[in-house]
Amino acid sequence: MSNVILLLSYLFGSITFIMGLKMLSHPDSARKGNLLAAAGMVVAIFATIFLYTHKAGPGKWAPTVHLHNYAWIFAALIIGTVVGTMAAKKVQMTSMPEMVSIFNGMGGACAMLISLVEYHRDPHPGTGILLVIVLGMIIGTISFAGSVIAWGKLSGKVKDKTIPGGQIFNFLIFGGIIVLSAMVVGGYSQTPTLFYCILVLAALYGVLFVMPIGGADMPVVISLLNSFTGVAAAFGGFLYSNPVMLTGGILVGSAGTILTILMCKAMNRSLKNVLIGSFGGQKVGVSGAAKDQGNYKEISLNDTAVLMAYAQRVMIIPGYGLAVAQAQHTCHELEKVLNEKGVEVVYGIHPVAGRMPGHMNVLLAEADVPYEKLLEMEDANDQMGSTNVVLILGANDVVNPAAKEDPASPIYGMPILEVEKADHVIVNKRSMKPGYAGIENELFFRPKSSMLFGDAKKVLQNLVSELKNV
Ligand code: TAP
Repeated sequence: MSNVILLLSYLFGSITFIMGLKMLSHPDSARKGNLLAAAGMVVAIFATIFLYTHKAGPGKWAPTVHLHNYAWIFAALIIGTVVGTMAAKKVQMTSMPEMVSIFNGMGGACAMLISLVEYHRDPHPGTGILLVIVLGMIIGTISFAGSVIAWGKLSGKVKDKTIPGGQIFNFLIFGGIIVLSAMVVGGYSQTPTLFYCILVLAALYGVLFVMPIGGADMPVVISLLNSFTGVAAAFGGFLYSNPVMLTGGILVGSAGTILTILMCKAMNRSLKNVLIGSFGGQKVGVSGAAKDQGNYKEISLNDTAVLMAYAQRVMIIPGYGLAVAQAQHTCHELEKVLNEKGVEVVYGIHPVAGRMPGHMNVLLAEADVPYEKLLEMEDANDQMGSTNVVLILGANDVVNPAAKEDPASPIYGMPILEVEKADHVIVNKRSMKPGYAGIENELFFRPKSSMLFGDAKKVLQNLVSELKNV
């Protein structure tokens, strides 16, 4: 009977996980989807703890027992829950990729530990099982080591480093991992030494593979590592014949892969280019920096307010700077004041604006901006020609015309928001410094553009006050 309940709880966990994932695809239902999937997993975890049985020893006559080490299990559960909850509550939206990265690393470490424990328990379990153990360990270790480096890079603790001949070195390490794995799985080694050598090589590979990748490409790499962790967890599920772990692992693996592909597409870059392109590492102008850009003009708050108050349609382009300034609520206030004056306000959302997928959608949803007002890039570009004023708030690379016009630019080919089709372009940022890709933006010097310098939140607060007086 308890076995049936256990299987039903796994079914429940798998179904809620799939439903939760589906609900995550829309901002309205994302929060509920997350909670639903988490609730399903809690049920599956507690059912495993109390109902899972295993043989106490080898042979079919060995007694079947329940898990017994509850003190260890609950101590770990409590520590994990407290640390995870506190970290998630404290984290700033802009530091989210760092947190995702380190949490993902923990998943990889779990998969690695499962393989180590299982190998330690029985080093000769048969070729098939040994293959699963070794693959789970390799992928989990690469994901763990790579995620820790990605976390270090995003938090500024680890610098981008391109090692001369690094690609060849990585290739050799990868070759070494395959040869040693074949020897272990094929039974050519009876000692655990080779197994631990694979572990060390996989950790080294994880570090060296992420080390040279440019800072701006980190979200893509994190998504890729996330899919690795999913696959490693699926191997764990296979090992324990645990359907919920298998389903969860496969879903995380495939979702991570799809997200990686979508991000590459949004930047118009191949995964190979992301992995070896070292894009966004250098912060000083790569292209166009040496060019004499001419002069830019500034616009006052009062002129901005007048221009907007007499517009028919204003399009706001949010970027990373809006998230840094935490100006989403003031931005929504500006939208409401403009609406009261009969001005239509829409938002143009670039798929890679900010530092992670959906960053701007989540940010604006936090301030209760109606979802219908958020236009995807293609729709925003279609409406640009009939827009009177574009207000760019802390965005840079996603509106850089070099992506269309300068074949030498590292972002050449990336689709952008074509803001110059509008009548007026107002750019709010704090200085003339480049964005994440480290390249100058000629848009700021173009005749239609005016700079409105200052922190996004302060500027928006003052703009709202000015508008109320117009
Ligand atoms: P960025 O190009 O990084 O530009 C952000 C701008 O915000 C900066 O130029 C900065 O200029 C300004 N800023 C910073 N703090 C500010 C504040 N408090 N108030 C006002 N302005 C502020 O951002 P973006 O246009 O959103 O582009 C995103 C970049 O990340 C792209 O290069 C993209 O490829 C990359 N990326 C994104 C993703 C995803 S999925 N989102 C994935 C991989 C890579 P000042 O310092 O002068 O203020």
